[in-house]
Amino acid sequence: MRDQAERLRELVNSQNQKVNSHKARIIAITSGKGGVGKTNISVNLSICLAKLGQRVTLIDTDLGLANIDLMLGMIPQYHLGHFFSGERELADVVMQGPAGVRVIAGGSGLQELADINPWQLDGCINSLVKMEEDSDFIILDTGAGISNKVIRFLLAAEEIIVVTVPEPTSIADAYGVIKIIAKENSKAKIYIAVNMVRSEEEGEQVIERLCMVAEKFLRFPLESLGYIYYDGNVPKAVKQQQPFYLTHPGSKAAQSVMKMAQRLLLLPEQSGGGLGKFFRRLFSK
Ligand SMILES: Nc1ncnc2c1ncn2[C@@H]1O[C@H](COP(=O)(O)OP(=O)(O)OP(=O)(O)O)[C@@H](O)[C@H]1O
Ligand SMILES: [Mg+2]
Repeated sequence: MRDQAERLRELVNSQNQKVNSHKARIIAITSGKGGVGKTNISVNLSICLAKLGQRVTLIDTDLGLANIDLMLGMIPQYHLGHFFSGERELADVVMQGPAGVRVIAGGSGLQELADINPWQLDGCINSLVKMEEDSDFIILDTGAGISNKVIRFLLAAEEIIVVTVPEPTSIADAYGVIKIIAKENSKAKIYIAVNMVRSEEEGEQVIERLCMVAEKFLRFPLESLGYIYYDGNVPKAVKQQQPFYLTHPGSKAAQSVMKMAQRLLLLPEQSGGGLGKFFRRLFSK
């Protein structure tokens, strides 16, 4: 335990010394089944990473039911769609969220992303790459399932957190998403996060089962990111439009999401081309 704490401290210190020379880690959060806690995890994991000294940008890419802003009680004037359509500068769509997390709201308009012209795309990517220099992590909250729009994001991401709850249907749907990523984006690193567990054993069992089937049938190794306890404080915080980590910092859910952030920091990052490459891949498909 002490070893892990020391490694974390070293890591945070070394990252503080970095001067704009690195690419941000781009992490997409997804699931097979909806309503398993992706947005709660995206928001609270981002806050925990920020509390650990990381510079975090949180982007809502759920185009159908964008709701990070709702969960944070924010009222965005502009969203990512306004930026890609050229109506707004990046600075206009970035909001200051809690704990220093920068938030970009989702919204319609991205649907036309396939039609963007190359000049416009270059301009957008230049601005995004500048933003990336100020971020250690870029967290993308995606929609659920295997619709084309979600899959586009997953095929462009370097690190993907697949969230499931400990129910057979959710686990089966998580496996469905993992299967597609493993086939189409074999370089991606996939982490499993189990939400709403009632005990440590329950969480560990789901992780073990998914890792085992992915290894056996897909020959694709998964990484465990751990689990988050079922906690009545989460829906309470959602109703208050506040992140549970801030409203109930001592709760079981808050403690487990912080553990998840620490684990993520310790895992080796998947080297990729950063945000520029991510959006190029996204638009090229
Ligand atoms: N650890 C938890 N304990 C108890 N309730 C939780 C927990 N995590 C999430 N919830 C509840 O589950 C509901 C869905 O959460 P959330 O909106 O984060 O899921 P989602 O996967 O983003 O959903 P969607 O697929 O619609 O985007 C929320 O009402 C929230 O209160
Ligand atoms: Mg959501």
